[in-house]
Amino acid sequence: MPQNDVRSRIEALRTAIRHHDHRYYVLDDPEIPDEAYDALFRELQALEARHPELVAPDSPTQRVGAPPLDAFAPAPHAVPMLSLDNVTDEAGLAEFDARVRRFLGTDDPVAYACEPKLDGLAVELTYDAGRLVRGATRGNGLVGEDVTANLRTVPSVPLALLGSGWPDRLDVRGEVVMPVAAFQRLNREQEERGLPPFANPRNAAAGSVRQLDSRVTARRPLEFLAYGVARPVETGAKAHSELLERLAAWGFRVADRWEQVDGVEGARAYCRRIEAERDGFPYEIDGCVVKVDAHGLQERLGERSRAPRWAVAYKFAPRQAVTRVLDIVPSVGRTGAITPVAELEPVTVGGVTVGRATLHNPDEVARKDVRIGDWVVVQRAGDVIPEVVRFLPERRTGEERPFQMPDRCPVCGARVERPEGEVIPRCTGLACPAQLKGRLLQFASRRALDIDGLGTKLVDQLVDKGLVKDLADLFRLGRAELAGLDRMADKSADNLLAALERARRVDLARFLYGLGIRHVGEATARALADRFGTLDAVMAADEEALQAVPDVGPEVARSVRAFFDEPANRASVERMRASGVEVLGSAPSGAPRPLEGKTFVFTGTLDALTREQARRRVEALGGKVTSAVSRNTDFVVVGAAPGSKAGRARDLGVPVLDEAAFRERLEAWERGELP
Ligand code: IVH
Repeated sequence: MPQNDVRSRIEALRTAIRHHDHRYYVLDDPEIPDEAYDALFRELQALEARHPELVAPDSPTQRVGAPPLDAFAPAPHAVPMLSLDNVTDEAGLAEFDARVRRFLGTDDPVAYACEPKLDGLAVELTYDAGRLVRGATRGNGLVGEDVTANLRTVPSVPLALLGSGWPDRLDVRGEVVMPVAAFQRLNREQEERGLPPFANPRNAAAGSVRQLDSRVTARRPLEFLAYGVARPVETGAKAHSELLERLAAWGFRVADRWEQVDGVEGARAYCRRIEAERDGFPYEIDGCVVKVDAHGLQERLGERSRAPRWAVAYKFAPRQAVTRVLDIVPSVGRTGAITPVAELEPVTVGGVTVGRATLHNPDEVARKDVRIGDWVVVQRAGDVIPEVVRFLPERRTGEERPFQMPDRCPVCGARVERPEGEVIPRCTGLACPAQLKGRLLQFASRRALDIDGLGTKLVDQLVDKGLVKDLADLFRLGRAELAGLDRMADKSADNLLAALERARRVDLARFLYGLGIRHVGEATARALADRFGTLDAVMAADEEALQAVPDVGPEVARSVRAFFDEPANRASVERMRASGVEVLGSAPSGAPRPLEGKTFVFTGTLDALTREQARRRVEALGGKVTSAVSRNTDFVVVGAAPGSKAGRARDLGVPVLDEAAFRERLEAWERGELP
């Protein structure tokens, strides 16, 4: 392509990708399927790789992390980032309104713009001629930290503004949040890796933004929601509500559910409504912010030392409560992780009755010094599992007993082990029913095999009655087994069997994730599937080959290898296949394809592999399998009792491999040792 055409194609791709990013990350309303988006993205990446001189910092391909920093540079704010005065009830809101009207000398209701108060990390994004040039934390309000490289990785941060009409220099302010669901997933992964969990989504968001290695930030599910700018008047907007509309048009995601209301009555109704809907928000909110809408009035009201007179935060009641710890019991999870759980005198926390709260791990119990019999503060954040925050020393009697982590699994009696450098003790029992239940739930979960109807109650029964002893047993269930279970009407049995039937054809990434291999979360499972293409190739890969996959380090590689080296696990996979489970591979991307353009023909019976397995592995390496031998065939693989194809191969001079030679080569190709 001539240079000019390349340039315009690159621009067209960037414009299209920005548009689709905005639809997807900001509006939550994608127009095209992921595959179509990926194709655009890959085309842009390829063009930029061939024309590095055309790479621009605001290209959508440049959201990747940059190499780690030693420290953040100070980032002074052109206009101080103020904080807000708080009120905690409706009387406080009425006082705020009265103050505003007294100051303005009016008896008329004031128009307010109301927004949810987002519980994340305040940041400022600076745009110069529409391009993102700096991202900074709030810091002390005057000087923050320069976290540009990190904020560039957040998909809802526009690298270039959309539309038109923005001022040449624009400082957009807002909050970086981590959606609650993503936070829970991240914490599960942290625990699987033996790392301490984050206390709440806000800490997780703040920790992710303040990472010295932006490649880590890039992997964290963060969102930026805009709620203002440093100099509102320069945007041409006459009121805050108009400003929010402009920010949305320029490509920002603004705090959802904002509203313009009339007077204090309107503000009060808004706050009540949002508080009632608090749990329905995808991210944490801890109140509402009520802002005088008109910019002219905001200017007249001005500010005091640290907060503007034109805005107030209406804070929701904290979701904390005080109760007593009746017992601390070890609870065994899916991966064998043993978590200390506090059994509590039931208490209502933010409208929900809480009887159990996690203490995360023995180190946390020790650090917080929580004992059986203590009075404690429990906290519920979103729909996160409630946790014990601290004990109340003033209510200690001396009768409290410390928690002792058992050295035997409370469910199966196997030894408890705490691997070097990890905070979480684990049950070592392979056949531990608690682990099996957890594994089954993960296997059946939506992001894995999506077996509708297989929830905790059913899993408990299947395991407790001995009907299911490993994952593969699921596919041997029939009406007869299900008939004897509680709450299992004919219709539910039929539905479950139908769901199992659908689950028999499963995509490789989902299957790998469903197996619940330690350290293999969804993203790693997807990366393994993309690289190896087939289950057999993953099962055969050695640690070195595994480590060649992006994001797979020595620990993950060891864990995958250990999982498939375990004969019980291999047998389980084989039994699933024998029951008709078909794990659907994908063409491995980015993986070496040493057999690209090569054609194989199989004849006779193979011993260690089925034909199907052999075919999938050849295909995973880019090769093709056909049935007839011709001059274009590259290899004929001959098993026991071969047909006429072996003779024809020799006649045509096509190389013939016996099974041993084939497997040897196949493995060498998979390891990338043979061209
Ligand atoms: S307006 C001068 N709007 O609350 C206006 N702040 O206590 C100051 N916050 O540091 C900010 N959601 O991080 C505003 N919709 C919202 C907000 C919001 C969350 C945070 C912000 C600020 C803190 C002030």
